[in-house]
Amino acid sequence: MTETRTWTLPAEGRRVGLIGKGGSGKSTIAAHLLAWWARRGVEAVGVDMDIPGDDEHGSLYAWASLTDVGAPVYPAPAHTRLAQESQRLTPAGGLGLLDTGAWHRKAGGPHYSVLSAVDLAVLTLQPTEMELERAGSVLTALEHLESVGAHVPDFVILLTMVNNSAASPAETREALTSNGYRVLTTEVPRQDSRQGYAQAFGKPPRLIIGDAMDSLSVELLEAITR
Ligand SMILES: Nc1ncnc2c1ncn2[C@@H]1O[C@H](COP(=O)(O)OP(=O)(O)OP(=O)(O)O)[C@@H](O)[C@H]1O
Ligand SMILES: [Mg+2]
Repeated sequence: MTETRTWTLPAEGRRVGLIGKGGSGKSTIAAHLLAWWARRGVEAVGVDMDIPGDDEHGSLYAWASLTDVGAPVYPAPAHTRLAQESQRLTPAGGLGLLDTGAWHRKAGGPHYSVLSAVDLAVLTLQPTEMELERAGSVLTALEHLESVGAHVPDFVILLTMVNNSAASPAETREALTSNGYRVLTTEVPRQDSRQGYAQAFGKPPRLIIGDAMDSLSVELLEAITR
């Protein structure tokens, strides 16, 4: 299949942030998005806001240092300067993708900086009752930004680690949409097999036409260019 569709972004580009619980698949999704966007002719950069320790960088940065993910990935700038820095790093007419570490609700922390630096925030959520409960603090953070008059990004929810035989994805989707949240059509399935997402780290992201990462890359481009 040849990609014929072209995407037009404003000169200053756009920023997308991935936020969500630890281990919900953010960095794996980020690497695949960068690779798919490159394939689709959209220039992008990754910014890794996950700072796991003094001598380590986040896993998206580590991944990009092991292999070509299709776009440069930068380690975290000082989070107080994130909005300017991520804008400066974004290619003209392109995308900046901000990956974050495990969500925690510290006002003034890096996650709040990411929320106020991006045009579109994507919450990765495992569709279970418990995770839904825990997502509440992200929604509170967005309300907080709104209440202090800060920039509030567009907000969408991405169901991840989805086990298709379970009833919970449909129920979670229903519960969220009936509360007014926008849930992306794409769901990222749990894939534990040897060729699956679970084993993807450090290798060039596999671009499988029609799979979840393919449709997610398009769905997010549609959301950000609207
Ligand atoms: N769709 C998937 N199916 C199965 N395993 C996955 C999937 N996506 C990621 N994994 C695996 O789950 C673990 C967590 O994934 P990942 O590092 O992408 O999550 P994360 O949200 O970035 O975590 P953190 O918050 O710690 O940065 C990794 O071992 C990864 O290989
Ligand atoms: Mg990560």
